[in-house]
Amino acid sequence: MKVTVIGAGYVGLVSGTCLADVGNDVLCLDLDQEKIRILQSGGIPIFEPGLEAMVRRNVAAGRLRFTTDVEEAVMHGLLQFIAVGTPPDEDGAADLQYVVAAAMNVGRFMTEYKVVVDKSTVPVGTADAVHAVLAEQLAVRGVSIDYSVVSNPEFLKEGAAVEDFMKPDRIVVGAQDSRAVDVMRELYAPFQRNHERLLVMDVKSAELTKYAANAMLATRISFMNELANLAESLGADIELVRKGIGSDPRIGFDFLYPGAGYGGSCFPKDVQALIRTAHAAGHQLKVLRAVEEANTAQKSVLTQKIVKRLGADLSGKTIALWGLAFKPNTDDMRAAPSRVLIADLLARGARIRAYDPVAADEARRIFAGEAGIDLVSKPMEALRGADVLAIVTEWKEFRAPDFAAIRSLLKTPVIFDGRNLYDPAVPRRAGLEYFAIGRL
Ligand SMILES: NC(=O)c1ccc[n+]([C@@H]2O[C@H](COP(=O)([O-])OP(=O)(O)OC[C@H]3O[C@@H](n4cnc5c(N)ncnc54)[C@H](O)[C@@H]3O)[C@@H](O)[C@H]2O)c1
Repeated sequence: MKVTVIGAGYVGLVSGTCLADVGNDVLCLDLDQEKIRILQSGGIPIFEPGLEAMVRRNVAAGRLRFTTDVEEAVMHGLLQFIAVGTPPDEDGAADLQYVVAAAMNVGRFMTEYKVVVDKSTVPVGTADAVHAVLAEQLAVRGVSIDYSVVSNPEFLKEGAAVEDFMKPDRIVVGAQDSRAVDVMRELYAPFQRNHERLLVMDVKSAELTKYAANAMLATRISFMNELANLAESLGADIELVRKGIGSDPRIGFDFLYPGAGYGGSCFPKDVQALIRTAHAAGHQLKVLRAVEEANTAQKSVLTQKIVKRLGADLSGKTIALWGLAFKPNTDDMRAAPSRVLIADLLARGARIRAYDPVAADEARRIFAGEAGIDLVSKPMEALRGADVLAIVTEWKEFRAPDFAAIRSLLKTPVIFDGRNLYDPAVPRRAGLEYFAIGRL
């Protein structure tokens, strides 16, 4: 099938590449010329495991192309996937300007039936808005062309995005006409050979499903973070509590890890956007407000522990930092807890020596001109001249470090672990002080 993907970011590039991989003819459009230049020259602009080889394979096979030419992109696909960003606006609601711009472009250039697919995470009612934008553009042109608008939210996880897209738990399709459902069913047939994964529903329910999923996951994390803080005060160990409750099948083990707060481009903005949607509809989502508040507080927990141990004035101190990305296996630092920690530490006069396996370039871009941060290329290099170590991202390579070496490199041998990576006895045996989240 001919597919156009509008927006070649984390979601658009992964979706487009995976759709090409099963044989579709995919054209990805982005207005960011640099991004398209990198893609056209055989590179990829983001870090996502397995993606680069897959892009290369499909480009070589002639099934995947990239362009900045809007008209060419609109002419290409029967399916027009909108996968542009939906960042929060000033009051936390989803900013739909990129979605609307993408829809306007489709309306401006389409000459035959199109299925316009909202892949971006968008508030309930957006498909109606996209429908109206298309109608308006066609009216301006004085033409009458059929089209369908479908909601098809994406549930992939950065760091495992290719795997998630190729083997989805479910494919939610919100549509009101059978013609569009047939097209979506045909497109997704290769992804559900094992069993039916397509959940067809009305458009609004599909739009709400995406927010409900992220809100639920964020809630589990904030719940565990609050319990971890309580466990610390009571002298209990949250890791044992986690095992104790996760073994209940009604609860399960996933997304019960306490830490230094959730970040990334989805949970924070989607929780806020759902709160705004509810507010606009005359509802107060009290639980979600608390989730958001708890998470904001949690992002300062590592700073508080450092201050408690080293004092409020950190001038003259150097903090080694392991992990900058909001989670492992991505270079994404949007709303990452590391950014809050870094800002807090710099404000208290500390210097930072930071290491991340893949997010260093992104960090260089974000902290350009910030004299207080040195980005280094090896974990142990971050410890040179540093007073203490703080761990913010649970990269695999941090799981079994040489604790004796850490002890000898740090001026004050203390680890502040924001991801509960170690059995506390192990670093302590090596002569390190060890502070984790909710652990004894
Ligand atoms: N990142 C994730 O893990 C994830 C998972 C599920 C859903 N989502 C949702 O998917 C959407 C996209 O997220 P992302 O992380 O891929 O964003 P992103 O910022 O990585 O990519 C968006 C891309 O769209 C491009 N763009 C903006 N306006 C455009 C236009 N009019 N025409 C063509 N290109 C345009 C931008 O240049 C950018 O490259 C968001 O709504 C997000 O909430 C993200």
